[in-house]
Amino acid sequence: MLSEKKLHVDPDITRASTLPSSVYSDPEIYHRALERVFVPSWQVIEVDLLDGQFNVFPFKLLAGSLDEPLVLVREDEDWNCFSNVCTHRGNIVTTRAGHYANLVCGYHGKCFDLKGRFKSMPAFESAKDFPSDRDHLAQLPLESLGPFKFTSIAPRYTFKATLQPMLDRMSWFAFDKLIYEPSLSTRYVVDVHWALYCENYLEGFHIPFVHEQLNRSLKFSEYETFIYPYCNLQLGVARESEPYFDIPTGHEDAGRKILAYYWWLFPNTMLNIYTWGISLNIVKPLGNGQTEILFKTYLLPETKKSSNISATLDQTEMEDEAIVKNVQIGVKSRFYKQGRFSPTMEKGVHHFQQLYSHFLTT
Ligand code: FES
Ligand SMILES: [Fe+2]
Repeated sequence: MLSEKKLHVDPDITRASTLPSSVYSDPEIYHRALERVFVPSWQVIEVDLLDGQFNVFPFKLLAGSLDEPLVLVREDEDWNCFSNVCTHRGNIVTTRAGHYANLVCGYHGKCFDLKGRFKSMPAFESAKDFPSDRDHLAQLPLESLGPFKFTSIAPRYTFKATLQPMLDRMSWFAFDKLIYEPSLSTRYVVDVHWALYCENYLEGFHIPFVHEQLNRSLKFSEYETFIYPYCNLQLGVARESEPYFDIPTGHEDAGRKILAYYWWLFPNTMLNIYTWGISLNIVKPLGNGQTEILFKTYLLPETKKSSNISATLDQTEMEDEAIVKNVQIGVKSRFYKQGRFSPTMEKGVHHFQQLYSHFLTT
């Protein structure tokens, strides 16, 4: 594997080189990133909580890579997230979403309450020191923002540290009113490394070259990137005749004609905030060179459901996929080792690579 020195990214963007191209192909780095970058990060729970009757929702966190079996449980209005692995001999406790009074393992009947605590177990009357704390289901932290729920297997930084810059800047936005719209949501599977997909998202430098239609909506000269500890923001300013946010006075962006806020949360979550609602993108590694991207659309109540929304997002996505697929081929070339950053246009990519390198090596 590459040495730590080779994985270092100079914090001075005017001097820094990009990470060596082998980070996009080395299988050891891929697996190390799963454990060191994804396991300690905050991830959006992607289960759809559409059925209000249900109180138990099993899912795998980052299916296709981490594959961690978890279960989201509601007791009255109190939500919790647990490991879905039975503390007896490791069976999956709950396999189907539904409404349950307890969580009962289907292998030998170990029973847990809706707080994940051990309740009963057949044929263990004579077992010594039983039950103990090890018999409860492991609990994970659970955080919410509007319709989004986040968890982390082993957080290395707080949820607040991740999201606070967005909440401070956009406290006027009605996150609580967003409604998930499955008919405008979709998924893409692309044969590219997950980090290349994220890096492409993290710069607007390519917009005039790659996205003709999007470029007609944005004032490219006013495109800005803001860096925060575990997230960053790209701010798209609207051209004349394009929709923009009505931002109340007293807020940081009041008076500006903002078309979109593109928030990236380390390492793989994107919250694209438009006047009509949010397009949530979750970038999920499926392998070392294959990535699934979930596009989930959440509308504000006053927004009319329109296929224009998904058509515009889809066109931009197709243009991005085409270019990133070419980059995937290029970074494998024997002639390409690493590049440099534009100090003005690639701050987001530089930020990503610094965090990525930091989490991989420390
Ligand atoms: S594995 Fe769950 S009761 Fe045995
Ligand atoms: Fe793009």
